[in-house]
Amino acid sequence: MASSPSRTDMLFMTIMLLLPILATAQPRTNVTLGSSLVANSANSTWLSPSAEFAFGFQQTAPKGGYLLAIWFHQIPEKTIIWSANRDDLAPEGSRVQLAANGTLQLNDPSGRQIWAADPGNASYAAMLDTGNFALFTAASVNLWQTFDQPTDTLLPTQILNQGGELISSFSDKNFSRGRFLFTLQTDGNLVWYTRNFPMNDIIRAYMATATVGDGFRLIFNQTGYFNLVARNGTLLSNLFSILGASTLQYYQRLTLEYDGVLRHYLYPKSDNTTGGRPRAWSVQDILPSNICTQVRQDTGGGACGLNSLCSMGTDQRPRCSCPFDYSLIDPNDLWSGCKKDFLPHSCDPESHDSDLFMFKDMPDADWPDSDYAHFNPVSEDWCRQQCLTDCFCDVAIYRNADCWKKRIPLSNGKIDPGVQGKALIKVRAKNATVLDPLGSKPGKRNTRLGVIIAGAVLLASSVFLNVVLFASKLFLAGKKSKKVENEGSIVYPGLNISYGVLLLELLCCRKNFEPDVEDERRILSDWAYDCCCDGTVAEMVVELEDEEMRDDIMRFERMVKIGMWCIQEDPELRPQMKRVVHMLEGSAQVPPPPDPSSPFL
Ligand SMILES: *[C@@H]1O[C@H](CO)[C@@H](O)[C@H](O)[C@H]1NC(C)=O
Ligand SMILES: *[C@@H]1O[C@H](CO)[C@@H](O)[C@H](O)[C@H]1NC(C)=O
Ligand SMILES: *[C@@H]1O[C@H](CO)[C@@H](O)[C@H](O)[C@H]1NC(C)=O
Ligand SMILES: *[C@@H]1O[C@H](CO)[C@@H](O)[C@H](O)[C@H]1NC(C)=O
Ligand SMILES: *[C@@H]1O[C@H](CO)[C@@H](O)[C@H](O)[C@H]1NC(C)=O
Ligand SMILES: *[C@@H]1O[C@H](CO)[C@@H](O)[C@H](O)[C@H]1NC(C)=O
Ligand SMILES: *[C@@H]1O[C@H](CO)[C@@H](O)[C@H](O)[C@H]1NC(C)=O
Ligand SMILES: *[C@@H]1O[C@H](CO)[C@@H](O)[C@H](O)[C@H]1NC(C)=O
Ligand SMILES: *[C@@H]1O[C@H](CO)[C@@H](O)[C@H](O)[C@H]1NC(C)=O
Repeated sequence: MASSPSRTDMLFMTIMLLLPILATAQPRTNVTLGSSLVANSANSTWLSPSAEFAFGFQQTAPKGGYLLAIWFHQIPEKTIIWSANRDDLAPEGSRVQLAANGTLQLNDPSGRQIWAADPGNASYAAMLDTGNFALFTAASVNLWQTFDQPTDTLLPTQILNQGGELISSFSDKNFSRGRFLFTLQTDGNLVWYTRNFPMNDIIRAYMATATVGDGFRLIFNQTGYFNLVARNGTLLSNLFSILGASTLQYYQRLTLEYDGVLRHYLYPKSDNTTGGRPRAWSVQDILPSNICTQVRQDTGGGACGLNSLCSMGTDQRPRCSCPFDYSLIDPNDLWSGCKKDFLPHSCDPESHDSDLFMFKDMPDADWPDSDYAHFNPVSEDWCRQQCLTDCFCDVAIYRNADCWKKRIPLSNGKIDPGVQGKALIKVRAKNATVLDPLGSKPGKRNTRLGVIIAGAVLLASSVFLNVVLFASKLFLAGKKSKKVENEGSIVYPGLNISYGVLLLELLCCRKNFEPDVEDERRILSDWAYDCCCDGTVAEMVVELEDEEMRDDIMRFERMVKIGMWCIQEDPELRPQMKRVVHMLEGSAQVPPPPDPSSPFL
């Protein structure tokens, strides 16, 4: 008997073998008074007993501040389901502490309180296996829980009570409160709203369960159903019609996402259910099914931004896009709205600007509101002509025999087969002459500037021209490395303001012009006026891709304008030197100089 180990020995050996494993496992006990976590790369957390959920800090990408959050800990995505400080990220070194008096508080390194939960008398806290983090009394009475303060997500067993709400994140990477709200109102109705971002009020409902007087709570139950029940327990509605899903097989969440869609997500807990495919969150259900056609509000852009068009992709997600010849205001934010990439239609009848516009057709596109004129019955050609000759008209919608004229900003834009018409986007047909930095198309382009420069050389003796040429030289000297000269096209990067000031000072101080300067002055100011003040420069600038170059040319244009003011015949009209400096710096507006061809000059 002594040769074979006893049962007790076996048990002892097993325990000895397991010990190191137990020792390295992270603590999964109650959070006691005085415990704290620090926001840093150590990633320390308070875990639920199963380790499926963690409470702690997550750094927002890329290298932003920290969110005090709860997340799914067993999946690589570490999907966040709750956060304390979404609108006020915590800097590195911030600390969350369950203070001796039972307050759970988040302070930055300087001691400023960022957030706190202060239910009074808490004697411990715990991260529970449901994903709920709660504060308890010594007698284990639940005083406060994250399940009662949802951000944008509900978990199985969580209940949305009357007055409870989910607010979508601003974007997929930015967890700040965003543009949509989902709430069980105190009147019992379950409603989806657009929010009046960045204010805290709402704009308009885009979906509702119509359960006023009846709805009492929304229960996300263990088998993946969303039951809206009455006070007496009667089931009023299942939010989604599709069958639920087992919480044994799947992690689940219901999230109001930044695009305004409420989605029920599943994530397989094991590889068994994926048939070998990598595990990921998959969408089980969405509401509303088409947010592009659902959202319609009298203020704000709609489901996407102003002037945008919303269309549902095959992946059941809305896409925000811009009309032809429009582009995103913020290329990194699809919801930022769209701007024209061309100069708007001039309303000056002298400009004959209508001749320079054309239409690009977008079938099934519509901005249902934003009309200012409606005609019926008319032909499509008649509709086009109406919009083309009307400087207010930015878009015409033609459907059957109806013609609507619209002007920007356009709202509630959508592309949907249900539209059964088309949008005629009015765009500038003729590209203005482009200042081509690489001279890639010699001869054709740059002719306008070429002529200007040639004229400049011929008139080089003039006082004003000297200003311009000298300024040009300064531009070139300012950034030699960026200088490009090619077949008469010259780019002027950078401007040394102090030299410009000196020069203009000399000019502006002249009390009167010598008689022999007078004729030159007139010719020159005509030229300069044409160049700077009739929109030519602005036209060229709009076409430029290079932002820096655009800025340089705008600065150059400003200098020419200031120069125009400085050579006014009437010394009274010439600006004070202090004002010239402000105008050069850009801190003062440069008013359009008087037209030299006017009789008053
Ligand atoms: C947490 O604290 C409560 C109350 O003191 C106690 O009943 C419970 O067993 C503790 N849980 C753990 C995992 O220590
Ligand atoms: C903390 O988390 C980050 C991001 O997940 C990871 O890169 C880093 O290695 C973690 N640090 C530690 C000490 O585990
Ligand atoms: C608990 O203590 C913190 C400071 O440690 C204080 O800010 C907070 O107000 C206190 N709460 C209560 C309920 O006394
Ligand atoms: C805290 O405990 C004290 C005494 O134990 C009690 O008088 C007080 O009402 C409690 N406060 C809360 C908010 O429970
Ligand atoms: C998130 O978006 C809001 C709203 O535009 C902005 O104020 C905030 O700075 C953004 N946060 C981050 C970390 O980019
Ligand atoms: C429960 O409440 C609902 C809605 O308020 C009502 O229609 C129903 O008749 C009630 N059922 C009972 C058994 O009281
Ligand atoms: C969840 O709700 C569904 C539909 O109301 C019901 O059939 C199911 O039994 C519920 N599951 C649990 C665990 O209560
Ligand atoms: C995965 O499949 C194996 C074998 O069929 C089974 O024993 C195990 O319980 C399954 N796991 C889950 C989480 O379903
Ligand atoms: C204007 O020029 C841009 C780029 O040079 C080009 O993409 C665009 O199609 C042109 N527009 C027209 C109406 O020719």
